[in-house]
Amino acid sequence: MIDRFEAALAERVGAPYAAAVSSGTAGLHLAVRLAGLGEGDEVVTTPFSFVASANCLLYEGATPVFADIDPRTLNLDPAAVDAAITPRTKAILAVDIFGYPAEYSELEAIAERHGLALIEDACEALGAEYRGEPIGSRGAPTVFAFYPNKQITTGEGGAVAVRTDEEWALLKSLSNQGRSDSGEWLTHSRLGYNYRLDDISAALGLAQVEKLDRILELRAEVAGRYADLLGDADGVEIPLADDADHKRSWFVYVVHLAEGIDRNGVMAKLAGQGIASKPYLPSIHLQPYWRERFGTREGMYPVSEGASARSLALPFHTRLAEADQVRVVEALAASLR
Ligand SMILES: Cc1ncc(COP(=O)(O)O)c(C=O)c1O
Repeated sequence: MIDRFEAALAERVGAPYAAAVSSGTAGLHLAVRLAGLGEGDEVVTTPFSFVASANCLLYEGATPVFADIDPRTLNLDPAAVDAAITPRTKAILAVDIFGYPAEYSELEAIAERHGLALIEDACEALGAEYRGEPIGSRGAPTVFAFYPNKQITTGEGGAVAVRTDEEWALLKSLSNQGRSDSGEWLTHSRLGYNYRLDDISAALGLAQVEKLDRILELRAEVAGRYADLLGDADGVEIPLADDADHKRSWFVYVVHLAEGIDRNGVMAKLAGQGIASKPYLPSIHLQPYWRERFGTREGMYPVSEGASARSLALPFHTRLAEADQVRVVEALAASLR
């Protein structure tokens, strides 16, 4: 089932190879190993992401250097990436936050100009497209994740899409205790991990990949209904629409409240009506572990911090019914009055 899942996934994302792993985080860690990043190497990445996209650099002793985001896309601002590069920079790790593709042509050009590796964290973006091509098809190692909140799930699980057979073989070895390429049973030729996906999860994943187009269609319908319903709501900014270069794969539905609105108050009022909502998501540099270890603080990445402070994830899943969405939007509008 692993072979079949990897083949189906690779085909769907337009990559020659995909290596299944036990989580998105495991995939990111292996992508960092693949790029050979370690002590003393700086990697430019986004503070507006789930913590794993920066933690994976710490696992190998590399130094994350945050660059602020574009307030429209909430993804890395290429100009900020360029400005963050030093002689120690070895890579850029881009994230397609909320399933919206990052600015790959600009990021690739910067990487090429400075001789840097590029890693794509597409854990939230399976099925998204950049300039008409699926995310995962551009050649840089691209990491996907299959936790149950994702577009498709294997329970826990992830995968890394790569261009070459050598990269794929190295990923398989690293995820399987560094077993030797010759396939000898108890021969371990490098430091590896148990990052294997199991066969049962792969069977689930295969069935899910086969349904992916339908899942994406349904999620886009749910998002489209929210956009229609929220169209006139004062004080609520809806997610950025697709354009010719960016086709989002809907992962979450995150709105931004106007400055000055008491988000906790809004969340409490929604909760009072049995409607869950969450700030989504906090900037990584303001997480307690990061503040303590690196001394990062408010004011360092103002665009990311602003997006974090005003964001609100609304209930969202593939089969969310219109009547429920109407109820959510009415409750949200009432909570803002
Ligand atoms: C942007 C991003 N990166 C990495 C991960 C980590 O994936 P996982 O939870 O499968 O380890 C996630 C998922 O939660 C994510 O959203």
